Amino acid sequence: MLEISKLTKRFGENVAVDAATFFVEQPTMIGIIGRSGAGKSTLLRMLNRLSDATEGTVTFDGEDVTALKGAARRNWQSRCAMIFQQFNLVPRMDVVSNVLHGTLNRRSTLATMFNLYPQADIHKAIEILDRLGIAEQAPKRAEALSGGQQQRVAIARALMQDPKIILADEPIASLDPMNAQVVMQSLRDIHEQDGRMVIANLHTLDTARRYCDRVIGMRDGRIVFDGTPQQLTTGAARDIYGAGADFSEAATSTEIETLDRSKEYV
Ligand SMILES: Nc1ncnc2c1ncn2[C@@H]1O[C@H](COP(=O)(O)OP(=O)(O)OP(=O)(O)O)[C@@H](O)[C@H]1O
Ligand SMILES: [Mg+2]
Repeated sequence: MLEISKLTKRFGENVAVDAATFFVEQPTMIGIIGRSGAGKSTLLRMLNRLSDATEGTVTFDGEDVTALKGAARRNWQSRCAMIFQQFNLVPRMDVVSNVLHGTLNRRSTLATMFNLYPQADIHKAIEILDRLGIAEQAPKRAEALSGGQQQRVAIARALMQDPKIILADEPIASLDPMNAQVVMQSLRDIHEQDGRMVIANLHTLDTARRYCDRVIGMRDGRIVFDGTPQQLTTGAARDIYGAGADFSEAATSTEIETLDRSKEYV
């Protein structure tokens, strides 16, 4: 289904992603973990063609995604919708219009200019919001919502595109633990009920363990772990993070980074 082969991204001398290779045979919920700078975001950005690979290929259902251009590339981007840590909503616009923005790819400029949406799309948007438990927020401005609610709006906007894959770059890094759980559970439900693939960069190990079927660990641009949460022992996790004996399972990738840096000064 999804085949990533020797995918590489260089920024000058720096190899951000180094020959990443993995296959996904059926819709799976995958968590990508690794310390800050390991290459997680760069990998996701190459998957949905926000960024072009230096080398290597991404193939989906037999089609070479890395070669797509123009409209075909945009079409791919709506088949693998992306959500971000900072939600990327239009803050002053109402929730339902934010969700309808997910249909932007297939609307005419004129319709977009006058904010005209087909009735069917509006119904669909409300239905999706309802499914995510936030239908009553539909008329409010996005900025009036809590972080957890805003992230669910972003998920709704992604679902509007009916994507095969949902890519999530640290979807819960800005949320409190309660909202983080609601958002992760929403992604899990979408995966299970709709059979969509979810690939999420996660900054804590326990989130990856709890919600994902498969965990990919990156270190210095390379995939150094690929297995089930059960296979992800504390030892394996320590390897991925390049952390010392004081490594804590509950630590975030940013904390590990800080911990490590502070050591250099003592
Ligand atoms: N646009 C860019 N130009 C130059 N270097 C970049 C660019 N984007 C990323 N990098 C570098 O590529 C490497 C991987 O960065 P990336 O953002 O993918 O890491 P990450 O695993 O997502 O980290 P974090 O957990 O902090 O989000 C880093 O060394 C980073 O400095
Ligand atoms: Mg990142």
